[in-house]
This record gives sequence, structure tokens and C-alpha cells, in this order.
Amino acid sequence: MANLWVKKSISSLQGEAEGESGGLKRTLGARSLVALGIGAIIGAGLFSITGSAAANNAGPAITISFVIAAVACAFAGLCYAEFASMIPVAGSAYTYSYATMGEFIAWIIGWDLVLEYAVGAATVSISWSRYFVKFLGYYDIHLPAAMTLSPFDTATLADGTVVHGMINLPAIFIVVLMSLLLVKGTKESAFVNGVIVALKVSVVLIFIALGWGYIHSENYTPYIPENTGTFGSFGMSGIVRAAAIVFFAYIGFDAVSTAAQEAKNPKRDMPIGILASLAICTILYLLFAHVMTGVTSYTSFQGADGIAPVAVAIDHMGEVGANGVIVPAYPWLNKAIILAILAGYSSVIMVMLMGQSRVFFSMSKDGLLPKVFSSVHPKFKTPSKSNLLFMLFVSLFAAFVPARIVGEMTSIGTLLAFILVCVGVLVLRKTQPDLPRAFKTPLVPLVPILGIAACLFMMVFLPGDTWLRLIIWLAVGFVIYFGYSIKNSKLNNPNKDKK
Ligand code: ALA
Repeated sequence: MANLWVKKSISSLQGEAEGESGGLKRTLGARSLVALGIGAIIGAGLFSITGSAAANNAGPAITISFVIAAVACAFAGLCYAEFASMIPVAGSAYTYSYATMGEFIAWIIGWDLVLEYAVGAATVSISWSRYFVKFLGYYDIHLPAAMTLSPFDTATLADGTVVHGMINLPAIFIVVLMSLLLVKGTKESAFVNGVIVALKVSVVLIFIALGWGYIHSENYTPYIPENTGTFGSFGMSGIVRAAAIVFFAYIGFDAVSTAAQEAKNPKRDMPIGILASLAICTILYLLFAHVMTGVTSYTSFQGADGIAPVAVAIDHMGEVGANGVIVPAYPWLNKAIILAILAGYSSVIMVMLMGQSRVFFSMSKDGLLPKVFSSVHPKFKTPSKSNLLFMLFVSLFAAFVPARIVGEMTSIGTLLAFILVCVGVLVLRKTQPDLPRAFKTPLVPLVPILGIAACLFMMVFLPGDTWLRLIIWLAVGFVIYFGYSIKNSKLNNPNKDKK
């Protein structure tokens, strides 16, 4: 009789981690891991969402929203760090729950992580496509809207006609490109990621440094605009709503933990990778948001979509000319920012796709998914078949689903994963208090409990249809688990695998 709650022993997991790494190569040091984290974190959340959340929800107090979201992520990050240093295998949250809460919960979380990583990659690829179209526009190249939008999106042409999208080809293009890079090799991917991270951090720093001199303190008054009478529209409720929205900007630090099996010294470097990337991004976000809302009134980001909020801010960095209009001091910065955004989004997509293939790698090794997901390319030493299958899956979402839907699915899936990781730390501290932990989450049980509360709080702020999609996704997962996984699980069928 199969047991839904069968647990993997920590010692067997640690053995797996120290052994052959399942064919994956240990190439990543602490710096690469921090870069991997930053690569996954800085993306659409910073460059697109900051402006619109300031304009519609929080005003200059968007910085407070960033702090709230950062605190919630820090609680979860501390819990991730304890697990990642103790069980440094590729499966991340999935593996942690297998060891603490049993196979069924592990399955749920592994299946749920598809929403964070694969659907997350699709979300960012859709934003990539928008900026790509914008960038081509600078050079008078105009792709037909039908080829750059999902069938559920529309675009209004210059003459006022409304056209429907058919397929988002640029989004497919970037997913395919990043997938092929991942097939080629983790080391090469980490190198490309390092270059991109340097580029996007530089642009963020340049924006902050150049903008600082043009901050006008009157733009911070009032710092917390009065609530308009609608919940979530400014005032305290606006700050919290904005925190739930900008949470997307932090997603990705946990992807570091999926590279544990490729880390040279995971016990020491996993916590560094997770916590340092989160801390660096938090500081950058706060400064960026401070400058953005300081150089111009938050109201000027109203209706500005995509690149526009950042472009609007850059256009306000300058002195007022004779005709009363601001003469931008750095007109070149806009193009540079778009380029950095394109490169930056590519690295987010890459790390997410990598995280996804590593989670399914572990699930497949455990027998819960078909072997194809853990087959390693003989030459490149990467899970190439899995990369190619996800290339297909993510491309379908990227091509045919609107950004809002995939974006919210990503957030709800990630929040659920964070909650389960926090619960896992609590469980393991109770059931196995004496296990050696290279990194210990401080103030247990307080930190995990606050992590659970903060994530639940933000989940509540997501719309009902997103909850429904989560439930449907999990239901599909149950069908696969009871139809396939439980019958093939190595733990549940120890005799089946004698080969
Ligand atoms: N944090 C990532 C982004 O903002 C997902 O694009």
C-alpha cells in the first residue's frame, strides 16, 4: 500500500548531494551564485511595476512597499538558506518538503514550482517582447501587432483601428534562445549571466547616481498620499497593495537554491547566494524607487506603461530651459536602459528556466516524473531533454497567454512555495532538532511564522480568478500524482528500481 506521507531521509539526501551530483557539474562559486540570484531578481518588477505601483497605489511611499515586500522575502529567504545549506540538492523547496512533510506535499510543491519558474519565465518573456518591439521602433522597424501579442491582447494602431494579436513571436524567440543556451552548459550560462548582471546593475547604479542630483524634495510631499476612498488606492491600504504588487520584483532569489548541486561549496555558499542577492537587490530597489519618485511627481507615471515610467523619470533629469520645458541632461540614457532591460530580462528568463529543469530533474530522479527529465546530455552535462521540453511548454504560454494572467499565477505559486518552505523549517526543527545545520534561521519559530503570515497576507491580495487557476493547476497535479507518480515513486516502490 503506497504511503502518501513517506519521507526521504536527510542522510540519504546529503549522500546524494555529496555524491556524483547526478551527473551535474560543480562549477559555481559564491560570486556566481550571488550573480545568479541578482540575474533572476532584477527584471520587470523594477523597470515596469515600480512606476505603475507608485502612480496608482503608493506614491513616493512605494519605498515603504518595497521594504514590506523585502521583509516578507527575507523571512522566507532565511528559511531557504537553512534548507539549502543543509540539503544542497537541485530540487530546492521540493526536496526540502520531501524530507520534512512527505511525498505528497513534496509533489504539490514541485508541481507548484512550475508556476514560479516556467510560468514566471513566460511572464518575463512577454515583457521582453514589448521592449523588443519598442527598441525596434527606435530604428523604424515595425512588426505587425498580430505577431507580437497573444490572441487575448489588442493593440490600437496610429489610425485608431484596433487589431487582435495572434501569436507572440518575439517572446517565443527569447525563450528558445535562453533554452538553447542552457542546453549548452551551466558554466557558459553562468558566464553570460554574469555579464548581463554587471550590465543591468551598472544601469541601475547610473540611474541612481545621475538622478540623485535632480531630486526635488517637494516631490516627496505628501510622502503618503491620502487614500482616495478606494481600498488600495493610496494611504496605508495603498502601501500594502503596492507591496503585494512589487513582490514580483523580488521573485528569483530562491532560484539560487536550485543550483545547489552545481555549487562548489554549497554549505557555505548557498546562504551567501540567497541572502546577499536579496540584500543587494533590496538596497538597489529602495534607491531606485527613491530617485524615481524624487526627480518627478509620482503622478507623472500615471498611465505610463512598460519602459515609460523609467523614461519619464530620465526625461525629468535636467534643468528647466528658457521656454519653461525641462531639457533632459541625459537623452542617451533611455536607449541604454532599454538595452539593459532586454539583456536583464533575458537573464531572469534563463535562471527561471534553469531552476525549472533542476526541480523536475530531482522529481524525475525520485521516480515521480518520467526519466526523460533527469537524462543528462553526455557531452554538455545538462538536462538537455528537459530544457527542450520546457522550451516548448513555456513558449506556448509566452505565445498565447496575456501577461497579467501569467504574472499573477507566478506570484501566487511563489507565495505558496515560500509558505511551505517556512512550514518545513518549523517541522524539521521539531522532528530532527539535532541535525547539523550549516546555516540556522534565526529566531525560530518567530521568523518562519512571520514568513508564513506575510506571504499569506500577500496571497489574499491577489484576485479570485488567480486563486481558481491555482486550484485547477493543483488538481491537474493530483491526477498525475495518483495516476503516475505514486506508482513509480522510488521510495514507495523500493523493489521496482532494482536495475
Ligand atoms: N523578479 C523578477 C522580475 O522582476 C521575476 O522580473
